[in-house]
Amino acid sequence: MKNKKNKSCLTTIPVFIATFLIAFSANVLAENKPEPIKVGVMLPFSGVYAGLGESIRNGLKLALQEKGNKASGREIQLVEVDTEAKPARASELTLGLVNNDKSDFVIGPVHSGVAMGMINTIRNKDSIMIIPNAGANAATGAFCQPNVFRTSFSSWQTAYPMGKEAVDMGYKKIVTLSWNYGFGKESLAAFEESFVAAGGEVVKKILVPFPKTEFQSYLTQIASIKPDAVFVFFAGGGAVKFVKDYATMGLKGNIPLLGSGFLTEGTTTAQGKAAEGILTTLHYADTIDNPKNKKFRADYSAKFNKSADLFAVQGYDAGQLIIQAVEALKGNTEDKAALIEKMEQLEIDSPRGKFSFSKAHNPIQTIYLRKVVNGQNTVVKESVTNLEDPARGCKL
Ligand code: BEZ
Repeated sequence: MKNKKNKSCLTTIPVFIATFLIAFSANVLAENKPEPIKVGVMLPFSGVYAGLGESIRNGLKLALQEKGNKASGREIQLVEVDTEAKPARASELTLGLVNNDKSDFVIGPVHSGVAMGMINTIRNKDSIMIIPNAGANAATGAFCQPNVFRTSFSSWQTAYPMGKEAVDMGYKKIVTLSWNYGFGKESLAAFEESFVAAGGEVVKKILVPFPKTEFQSYLTQIASIKPDAVFVFFAGGGAVKFVKDYATMGLKGNIPLLGSGFLTEGTTTAQGKAAEGILTTLHYADTIDNPKNKKFRADYSAKFNKSADLFAVQGYDAGQLIIQAVEALKGNTEDKAALIEKMEQLEIDSPRGKFSFSKAHNPIQTIYLRKVVNGQNTVVKESVTNLEDPARGCKL
């Protein structure tokens, strides 16, 4: 009996020591494991802009995956929330990502109204906001902030070049039309600025409540006005419906349809023949001929089983921006001023072509005139090379 007790004691002690050592080394490893980088992702995953949100998220994931989901040895963790493209939700969602989730970066949104709410909330906070779509001029204009960057565009950049292009094509009297909210109105104003300066006249401006997609009554008005051409902003599900309705109501082929590129971006499969021949201006085209774009499009199709679009490019570049900045600072994200300074200096090797940031933190980038040919947004020419937004009112 005595012997048996001693024997069990002898086997218990090494097991105890081994357990202790395993627990001790696991603790040491855990202590040495660097903190993850937290990235809040605020995008529309439902509603009329859901397709845009999905493309941005896919592009972001592709950029992170290329680097093993790490920057400077730190894991990158995403926390996703659905904005539903509703400006009223912007502040509450941003506060959650900044205060509760302690996000180092917040990527979002798609809708300009949501962007303005986010900017108001994130001002003077430690998190850095990266806008992967929303074009509100004020985001990198009158409301510019040190901790707000864009990998996308300003409203002005995407529509201004088309005004001059339209006059060069011989169109003098034009009807403009868009959803009635910030980005749409700014797009029409930017188009009008260069169109009127080049000698054109906007004969009627039509604003449609957002996110309404019943266009028949507006198209009837256009048919009776008979302008030389029509310039519009619609995107996502609204762009699909508008382009199809335009053809169904017999306007295609009679009154040329022009737009900022969102009209045919990520939508041509659903639009089918109705999209063929439409001319738009944008800072990306499917056929941009550089090795980065070719690899990006091939990798994206292989991973997501569909074609890449501009929204995916902007998400991809938001991912590249974070990785490059964190790696340049060897993983130190504590010093936000140093992080912002580094981001300001970076050149991003984007599928759209290389770009750097203006003083207001908006990309300086080439705008292309594009034409839909066999479902692809093909480059017609560079409309304006390295176009910088005027950043009206920005004091950075
Ligand atoms: C915007 O609201 O800024 C926007 C939405 C969709 C496409 C482009 C811009």
